[in-house]
Amino acid sequence: MRVIGLMSGTSYDAIEAAAAELHLDGDELVMSLLGARSLPWPEELRHGIGAVLPPAATTVEAVCRLDTLIGQAFADAAVNAVEALCSGAADLVVSHGQTVHHWVEDATVRGTLQLGRPAWIAEATDLPVVSDLRSRDVAAGGQGAPLVSAVDTLLLRGRPGVAAALNLGGIANVTVVPRAAAPVAFDTGPANALLDAAVRHFTGGTRHYDEDGRGAAAGRVDAGLLALLLEEPYYRRPAPKTTGKELFHLPYLLAALAARPVPELADVLATLTRLTAVTVADACRAHGVTELVVSGGGTRNPALMRAIDAELPGVRVLTSDAVGLPVDAKEALAFAVLGFLTVHGLPATVPSCTGARHTSLLGSITPGRTPLDLPPPAAVAPTRLRIVPAPVSSRRLGSSQCSPSTTSPAWRIV
Ligand SMILES: Nc1ncnc2c1ncn2[C@@H]1O[C@H](COP(=O)(O)OP(=O)(O)O)[C@@H](O)[C@H]1O
Ligand SMILES: [Mg+2]
Repeated sequence: MRVIGLMSGTSYDAIEAAAAELHLDGDELVMSLLGARSLPWPEELRHGIGAVLPPAATTVEAVCRLDTLIGQAFADAAVNAVEALCSGAADLVVSHGQTVHHWVEDATVRGTLQLGRPAWIAEATDLPVVSDLRSRDVAAGGQGAPLVSAVDTLLLRGRPGVAAALNLGGIANVTVVPRAAAPVAFDTGPANALLDAAVRHFTGGTRHYDEDGRGAAAGRVDAGLLALLLEEPYYRRPAPKTTGKELFHLPYLLAALAARPVPELADVLATLTRLTAVTVADACRAHGVTELVVSGGGTRNPALMRAIDAELPGVRVLTSDAVGLPVDAKEALAFAVLGFLTVHGLPATVPSCTGARHTSLLGSITPGRTPLDLPPPAAVAPTRLRIVPAPVSSRRLGSSQCSPSTTSPAWRIV
């Protein structure tokens, strides 16, 4: 089955589209990557998303408009992926949508809202669409996140030592997969969220992120600001736990800077980079991690990767490219897998990771042009994900081809 995964994370920088051929082989899920592309949000829409994110007040009208515009943008990305990555023939689209609110109260997730109405995708592609993947886990008492933990578990199970996957998006999340115990997953705290907020604020919106970590590399960590930020109670809460930009936003950073002024932007960036590294490393140490497989835009920041490596002596740090998943496409591919499991009648959550009472069949399915014709429910649930090269006939040439990143800094410590 050819599946397209669509994802935009809390950084709302781009829609990541990835395509994979997936099939079940006994207790293995076999995936070959067909390609991936990153489609940056148009500046106006990006602005529109930023305008409804917490702590901003918004209106139902603004939310309705965005739901449509995001749905249309995801539909464009899907059409593009069908043509460019699947030679015009795909079977299923899985759309994460754009998270605009992750409602956490007293450590319990009570709701999570992703915009991007799937009808636009189904209308544009004629394909069935799996969407709203998080809600069912929330209804089952889970955090609704990190949902990629199910895919990380399939991928990392059986690796030597204590393997973990780390995604450095706006928020950082880890999945720890010990050999002889249940996996755990949680958000460790901000990855790029506060870094991006600082850059945007202090450059008057002319820059969006600390490109290649140059600001952080030029600055010095302010011990007082770091200590203040580390007082955040979230870091001490036990897993399962998740967070978002509802907590780690610009006013949060500005309040810390008001209490501990740091005049130089470079020093603020150095401190925030260290904050991410320390909170990631604390989480890894608490779970005895020996190998860390890193993905997400944060892998493109050498200062951040160096800082994480420095905080974790003795831990093998590598990017997800090394295990077959391009760093930018990993989450989109993970959602492709989750939707594939859904249409095969297979639950796709790990309760020890999300904290749910039980595992769940995820998502809502919007029919394509024809009535839904789902495969028969699979008899055996996969226990492993095997990534194999795509058949030559389905490989696409050019920049969209899915291969380990060549543009990312050489952050592969193997
Ligand atoms: N070259 C780079 N240098 C530093 N940071 C980068 C670079 N490329 C991407 N990033 C960071 O990665 C973020 C996007 O990562 P991504 O994995 O897409 O996050 P999300 O899933 O939250 O959208 C950007 O907002 C930026 O902070
Ligand atoms: Mg992104």
